[in-house]
Amino acid sequence: MSPFGGWGLLSAFLALLCCTGSGEEAFEVRTWPEQLMVESGESQVINCSTTCTQPNTGGLETTLHKTLLAEQDQWKLYEVFNISQDTDVICHFTCSGKQESKSLNISVFHPPKQVLLKLWPTLVAVGRSFTIQCRVPSVAPLEGLTVTLLHGSEIVYSQTFVGTTLSPQEAMVTHNTTAHREDNRHNFSCRAEMDLRSRGGDLIHRVSDPQALDVYEPAQDNQVVAIITVVSVLLFLFVTSVLLCFVFGQQWHQRRTGTYGVQAAWRRLRWAYRA
Ligand SMILES: *[C@@H]1O[C@H](CO)[C@@H](O)[C@H](O)[C@H]1NC(C)=O
Ligand SMILES: *[C@@H]1O[C@H](CO)[C@@H](O)[C@H](O)[C@H]1NC(C)=O
Ligand SMILES: *[C@@H]1O[C@H](CO)[C@@H](O)[C@H](O)[C@H]1NC(C)=O
Ligand SMILES: *[C@@H]1O[C@H](CO)[C@@H](O)[C@H](O)[C@H]1NC(C)=O
Ligand SMILES: *[C@@H]1O[C@H](CO)[C@@H](O)[C@H](O)[C@H]1NC(C)=O
Repeated sequence: MSPFGGWGLLSAFLALLCCTGSGEEAFEVRTWPEQLMVESGESQVINCSTTCTQPNTGGLETTLHKTLLAEQDQWKLYEVFNISQDTDVICHFTCSGKQESKSLNISVFHPPKQVLLKLWPTLVAVGRSFTIQCRVPSVAPLEGLTVTLLHGSEIVYSQTFVGTTLSPQEAMVTHNTTAHREDNRHNFSCRAEMDLRSRGGDLIHRVSDPQALDVYEPAQDNQVVAIITVVSVLLFLFVTSVLLCFVFGQQWHQRRTGTYGVQAAWRRLRWAYRA
């Protein structure tokens, strides 16, 4: 037996193994992209293709509104519209009476559209505590969302969310910290980062408007106290001296006019009034 005969036998055996009982050619169905993450309400182009050289039929099955953009024997290009919730679309082809399909899972995300930063109080003494709060309304998935509180370009606090909630919800980070003298110099801000790279998406980030913190020296407090004290002491001295002057003046007057000087003066005044 020639070696070629052996090969022939082997390949016949392999062919039998591969397509047992059917006699149809094996083929694959693919989707491009293979995984899909879309922003809520977006549309997306999907390429549905097969390795079968002469498929009978093929298409994309979905509850979403779709249109066929282009096609050739081995692929069909669709656009699906207004994807508003997680869904599966199925790409299928029939080749020599046999059907193969491939499902594509579409996940919808709600990116951070607003990042709201709040500082309170906004006027704080050095060494006193203040609160930084950042809210990111209506985001999904929350998992993998990182909210970072920044002072200038320096990170004050950072939190990465965990969990598998799919419905959009608010992400909130609250951090208490102590006011430093330097806090006056830079604005505070908050950055929200949604990392969808592991799901076939992008890294999306958005930053809040800057917020300033007014930091004052507690020494100013002491100055105010000192001023109030000095003014009080001066006022006291003034009032005391006026009183003393009055008292000494009375005594001096009494010595000159006698004890009933005031009464005599009063009587004289009344007579003067009647007359
Ligand atoms: C669709 O995918 C097939 C297979 O990967 C490829 O040959 C074809 O060029 C793609 N069509 C478009 C319009 O990208
Ligand atoms: C998109 O889908 C949402 C929810 O299914 C619907 O409320 C909205 O009207 C749709 N928008 C368009 C432009 O079709
Ligand atoms: C898509 O989701 C279905 C169930 O919803 C699951 O069985 C399938 O494995 C998923 N496919 C991929 C590629 O993640
Ligand atoms: C921050 O401080 C406020 C009061 O100053 C307190 O009510 C709140 O629980 C604190 N928050 C954290 C996260 O420590
Ligand atoms: C802080 O932000 C305000 C408003 O955006 C801006 O006018 C100001 O220059 C910023 N200050 C600093 C120190 O960056």
